[in-house]
Amino acid sequence: MPLSNLAVRDIETLAHPYTNLATFRDTGPLVFERGEGVFVYDSDGKAYIEGMAGLWCTALGYNNRELVEAAVAQMRKLPFGHLFTGKSHDPAIELAERLKEISPVPASKVFFCNSGSEANDTQVKLVWYMNNALGRPKKKKIVSRLKAYHGVTIAAASLTGLPNNHRDFDLPIAGILHTNCPHHYRFAQDGESEEEFSRRLARELEELIIKEDPDTVAAFIAEPVMGAGGVLVPPKGYFPEIMKVCRKYDLYMISDEVICGFGRLGTMFGCSALGYEPHSISVAKALTSAYVPMSALTVPEAMYQAMLEESRKIGTFGHGFTYSGHPVAAAVALKALEIYARERIAEKAAQKAPQFGKRLAALGDHPLVGEARGCGLVGAVELVADKAAKRSFDAKAGVGPRAVRFAEEEGLIVRFIAGDVLSICPPLIIAPAEIDELFDRLTRAFDRTLDWAKREKLLG
Ligand SMILES: Cc1ncc(COP(=O)(O)O)c(C=O)c1O
Repeated sequence: MPLSNLAVRDIETLAHPYTNLATFRDTGPLVFERGEGVFVYDSDGKAYIEGMAGLWCTALGYNNRELVEAAVAQMRKLPFGHLFTGKSHDPAIELAERLKEISPVPASKVFFCNSGSEANDTQVKLVWYMNNALGRPKKKKIVSRLKAYHGVTIAAASLTGLPNNHRDFDLPIAGILHTNCPHHYRFAQDGESEEEFSRRLARELEELIIKEDPDTVAAFIAEPVMGAGGVLVPPKGYFPEIMKVCRKYDLYMISDEVICGFGRLGTMFGCSALGYEPHSISVAKALTSAYVPMSALTVPEAMYQAMLEESRKIGTFGHGFTYSGHPVAAAVALKALEIYARERIAEKAAQKAPQFGKRLAALGDHPLVGEARGCGLVGAVELVADKAAKRSFDAKAGVGPRAVRFAEEEGLIVRFIAGDVLSICPPLIIAPAEIDELFDRLTRAFDRTLDWAKREKLLG
């Protein structure tokens, strides 16, 4: 099919994130025009179920009038205000108060940024700043995990444990360590139970800390369920074991709630679902249901005291973004939080999770699927060439992208992430009938992928 005029203009003008820029020149973009509920519509008017809530973020779906009106009202009143040099405004103050109230762990202050990456970069800087204030300047290394995703700015990309975010970008920076990935299906030894695997991972974390010298290791960062690394749900007992090691070596624990925050796992925050208490959380995405960019992190009292000390010594706290706490974003976030509470969005996600989980698990029987996994309203299926041997397809065969294309033809947006894994993360407002429709479309897409893979002789 010839490319549309819009597609040609796109190819000539846009550098697309997370896109094979070479093949994209032939395929062109899929251009969306509008959205309503869990549906988005392309420029030809075709409807798709947004099975990824955009990028794991539009929790309240599309065209939520209350969010739109909150933005418009704030734009009319005070479209910009900042928090530098002691300036402030109502929406930021109220949102900080609200986030402190609902934070799963004690928070003394809230710091606002614009993206998940900035929140995690800020976490790293605050850990360094705090340990300088506390007179332990050697304690600076941050431990993350292989397959973690924490963003793309220089520190956040370094924390990320995915090769494509490092390769040829000269990353990771010094002082970032990666411990092993808690994915039982891929990394457990033969016959190793989930609990045994968790204990081994905790031992390996401890060994890494000892090898590096505990006096130099400052913090540990983790997503409750790893998102972009493949929707990896930790094995039983994982976080309690890991937290023991963090406590033993006095590591500051950061929970990256950028995907899991605000109901995705059926609880308001992911750490509560998985049973651990971090020192701080990073939130973004669903904070505003992604209608406007905003992120935040919580600052515990001990860290705040250290920041005060440094600020007294240096004369200022030298960090912040022009749009930190932007009033329009804060007004939308406040409205989103009001809706989450009023509509009991997290509780309802938990009620829908068994249906979602059952349909997801059923996909595990499909001849193409090695593992179907998930938690709450997020899941993934890992496509394999040989189920028994867990053998992946050759990446060059392009099975994941092919399945995504068939899904799009069936009217469903899902995402292909590393290693022929397809992720599913619909808006939390998805109705039970829409969950069934989503999985019906996905099953048809897999059947078509299977036929194609057979024709291409890619199986076995
Ligand atoms: C867990 C997690 N942390 C951080 C980020 C980075 O957020 P952003 O793309 O807003 O910088 C993401 C993005 O997907 C994420 O999933």
